[in-house]
Amino acid sequence: MTTIYCTATSLDGFIADDDESLSWLFATPSHDRDPQGRHGDGDSLDFDQFIAGVGALVMGANTLEWLRRELTRDGAEFVWPYPQPSWVVTHRDVDLPPGVQRAEGDVRDLHAEMVEAAGGKDLWIMGGGDLAGQFFDAGLLDRVWVHLAPVVLGAGKPLLPRRIRLHRQAIERDGQLTAMLFDVVGAEARDDGSVRAPI
Ligand SMILES: NC(=O)c1ccc[n+]([C@@H]2O[C@H](COP(=O)([O-])OP(=O)(O)OC[C@H]3O[C@@H](n4cnc5c(N)ncnc54)[C@H](OP(=O)(O)O)[C@@H]3O)[C@@H](O)[C@H]2O)c1
Repeated sequence: MTTIYCTATSLDGFIADDDESLSWLFATPSHDRDPQGRHGDGDSLDFDQFIAGVGALVMGANTLEWLRRELTRDGAEFVWPYPQPSWVVTHRDVDLPPGVQRAEGDVRDLHAEMVEAAGGKDLWIMGGGDLAGQFFDAGLLDRVWVHLAPVVLGAGKPLLPRRIRLHRQAIERDGQLTAMLFDVVGAEARDDGSVRAPI
């Protein structure tokens, strides 16, 4: 069982632009449109394989609202798209789809609940970046998996607003995306050797 922050990011480290849109990601050709476009260490970074190994997932309140907007664009009813046990962290009084659980505060209790629900499978931290950072702060983030899109946004929602040293495990080309899987090594020290708590 590993706890993985898996997300797509712009080259300058944003997971959503300053309009909270992912149009830049959906405009990036991936293997969905070009099945021959996958090259690299292997096919270990296939998202379909990843999701099959996920036993529980969590997202922040803004990601939930993005998902709700995205899936109801054509007037459709909001139906939760993930079969896995799912949590949303928020302080808001949000309307959650049936079966989706609410959590708030320290992520350590939530992590324990997710581990139990996942039945030995992986935990997916969907984002945003600070939520992944909270798991890191608690020593509970094992891996970071990014799909890097060749676009620079200049502003938006940050990928992972912490100082963290990673170790690259795998890299693959997926159309115009570059998929990279990293192990979390630990807090990245500053020039004076100090390691300070979250920025
Ligand atoms: N590129 C990708 O693949 C990808 C992946 C995921 C998300 N996104 C995008 O990123 C954007 C959202 O990112 P975001 O940085 O705004 O983060 P987010 O994690 O979706 O939402 C942040 C909010 O979640 C709540 N929250 C976070 N931690 C909490 C905790 N421990 N306890 C209680 N509430 C907590 C807080 O809201 P309250 O206190 O107000 O409840 C916080 O302001 C969306 O546009 C989404 O589409 C992109």
